[in-house]
Amino acid sequence: VLIAQLSDFHVRRADDPFPGIPDTAESLGRAAAALAGGRTAADVAVLTGDIVDRGLPEEYARMREALAPLRMPLLALPGNHDSRDALLAAFADQPWRTEIDGFVQYAVEDWPVRILCLDTTIPGRTEGELCDRRLDWLAERLEERVDSPTVVAMHHPPFATGIGYMDAWGLVRGAGRLASILGAHPQVERVICGHIHRSVQRRWAGTVAMVAPSTAHQIELDLRPEPDMAFRLEPPGYLLHAMGPDRALVSHLVPVGDFGPARSFGDGEPVG
Ligand SMILES: [Fe+2]
Ligand SMILES: [Fe+2]
Repeated sequence: VLIAQLSDFHVRRADDPFPGIPDTAESLGRAAAALAGGRTAADVAVLTGDIVDRGLPEEYARMREALAPLRMPLLALPGNHDSRDALLAAFADQPWRTEIDGFVQYAVEDWPVRILCLDTTIPGRTEGELCDRRLDWLAERLEERVDSPTVVAMHHPPFATGIGYMDAWGLVRGAGRLASILGAHPQVERVICGHIHRSVQRRWAGTVAMVAPSTAHQIELDLRPEPDMAFRLEPPGYLLHAMGPDRALVSHLVPVGDFGPARSFGDGEPVG
């Protein structure tokens, strides 16, 4: 099983560009083309939030156009820039439905690895939370199949990354109880997140927690106590989480850009 993870597209309307950032829908289109043209086809793509920038239906329509090259199921969950209702409407053709009214949370059981999508958003706020209702749902799902390797997907990472202002806008409630739930369920192979717009990994609550880069702009890596709030046009990318016969996940970072073809070590010429 190969799980692609794409994050933080921040798609806007064509007439509403970000200052200093190339069109985010075009960036998403390049990521989708790279994934669709990859050497190994992904079975499913998990979209870990900030799918659009202002929560507008027109932005979701542009986003789906950019994702047109992808033929695998698309599992979407909201980030702080999304609108739950517009997101659900934009993905109504996909084979999942939210399982808690008022949130976008659901389990997907179609592969040897289970995927549990969580909603960490607070409408109108940048920071995130997991309330008892959402965490009760997670605990119940994990109890159902304690022997099934599981990925938990969520927008706000549950750990501090060291980028101060992003951490202040992080998961401000529920991380402690989430840690105790995950710590009691060693079948959780990965926690996969977005929000930070760069690749970050940490051992957390007995599992491995990872953040995917954005398909658009990256957050400046600034670990000083008073970081500049800034972006940088570093290579965008996505993650591939591959499950092998030993039922462990191996995660790969795939940068997106024009890096030329794969070349032979023998003569330096492009290979098939
Ligand atoms: Fe974002
Ligand atoms: Fe975010």
